[in-house]
Amino acid sequence: MNDKKRSSFTGKIGFVLAAAGSAVGLGNIWRFPYLAAKYGGGIFLLVYILLAVTFGFSLMVTEIAVGRKTGVSAIEAFGRLDKRFTFVGYLASVVPIIILPYYSVIGGWVVKYLVGFAAGQGSAMADDAFFGQYLSSAAEPVIWFLLFIGVTAAVVMLGVEKGIEKVSKIMMPILIVLILVIAVYTIVSMDGALDGVVYYIKPDLSHFSVMTVVAAMGQLFYSMSLAMGIMVTFGSYMKKDISIEGSTHQIEIFDTGIAFLAGLMIIPAVFAFSGGDASALGKGPGLMFVTLPKVFDTMPGGTLIGAAFFIMVLFAALTSSISLMETIVSIFCDKLNMKRIPACLIVFGISVALGLLSCFGYSILSDVTVFGMQFLDFFDFFSNSILMPVVAFATCILVGCVLTPGAVIGEAEENGKHFRQKKLYSVMIRYIAPVFIVLILLSSILDFFGVVKI
Ligand code: PHE
Repeated sequence: MNDKKRSSFTGKIGFVLAAAGSAVGLGNIWRFPYLAAKYGGGIFLLVYILLAVTFGFSLMVTEIAVGRKTGVSAIEAFGRLDKRFTFVGYLASVVPIIILPYYSVIGGWVVKYLVGFAAGQGSAMADDAFFGQYLSSAAEPVIWFLLFIGVTAAVVMLGVEKGIEKVSKIMMPILIVLILVIAVYTIVSMDGALDGVVYYIKPDLSHFSVMTVVAAMGQLFYSMSLAMGIMVTFGSYMKKDISIEGSTHQIEIFDTGIAFLAGLMIIPAVFAFSGGDASALGKGPGLMFVTLPKVFDTMPGGTLIGAAFFIMVLFAALTSSISLMETIVSIFCDKLNMKRIPACLIVFGISVALGLLSCFGYSILSDVTVFGMQFLDFFDFFSNSILMPVVAFATCILVGCVLTPGAVIGEAEENGKHFRQKKLYSVMIRYIAPVFIVLILLSSILDFFGVVKI
């Protein structure tokens, strides 16, 4: 992106909405509930919230401030602050390239379920075996994936993101209402659902493991679109008179609130249908797709509600996939001096190639594993638990030790703004966050290579 052409968001609401549109997506609705179910319920929720208000807050303030201070996107920003940190910008830019393809594969699953409900096949989808059968067919998931990534690419290529964002602004509140309706319906009408609420809300230390923290941390990066340069880019568009601290709080509350509600919609339902059986809770990426159709099947008007639900989720997913692709395309344009359309086509090509691996990992390539993981799990794990912590660590070192936190605090206090949590911020970014990230990184690497099972 060219500095001179850099436009600004019109106001605080414009900035917060755009950043929230990128942050709220499948991460909140699909990924958060299955991790919370798998890694201990209430204890996962508690760890996640604690991390969000300390660590997530500090990192988001940092990224936005770095973007606004330098006025350029991530790949340039780090190098501008200190030449030795140029690599951080490049590393951060690799993350969306890995995430976009498999994100679009999940987006394809959403399209499949949307079409299924719209065609009145809701009951068939409520069958336990349905999701597995669908995934193991070689062709169908590929078609829906291509449709999803194709629409994403078309929107980015034609530059009509604004249109999607407008629709999404209407869809987002409806989605929140629907999630609430589904959650209340499940909890009130289904036997056993209340046990699920307890499991989800009440922290139980006996469910705690190191993986609870590893997973919560990875999820935090993913959900808040951190450690991949996206918030740096957003920050570069932010005007000086808008409060970085205030905006960060709003994005954080919004993003965590929606994730919390999504968990409340899914986990009690898992309990109602399985009695909280550990294998059902540990289902992983398929959890939402297996559980929700069963809820819709018992619900009056369930087919319609199911179709409406999946269409809202689709829009939330599209705003995120578009912002992922937009980021990659702008990197290609800036760094490789490419024109927009060829850059879009190349990014589309790379995404199709990597996405196909994730699709086939469940069907014809199901025997092939990378470090014992299927392709989709591998891409997810590698980006969230390895690359993002490395980027986050380097960011902390750059700001905490090289520039000193004062640089970010100064940026946050531009135009007479008061940075209320600056003490917490300084301590976090200088000491707690880097030490913590190294510990997390080491645990995930050890786990990754199967040295220890934690
Ligand atoms: N934060 C998004 C989500 O929760 C995913 C995403 C990551 C989107 C990075 C854009 C950029 O779904």
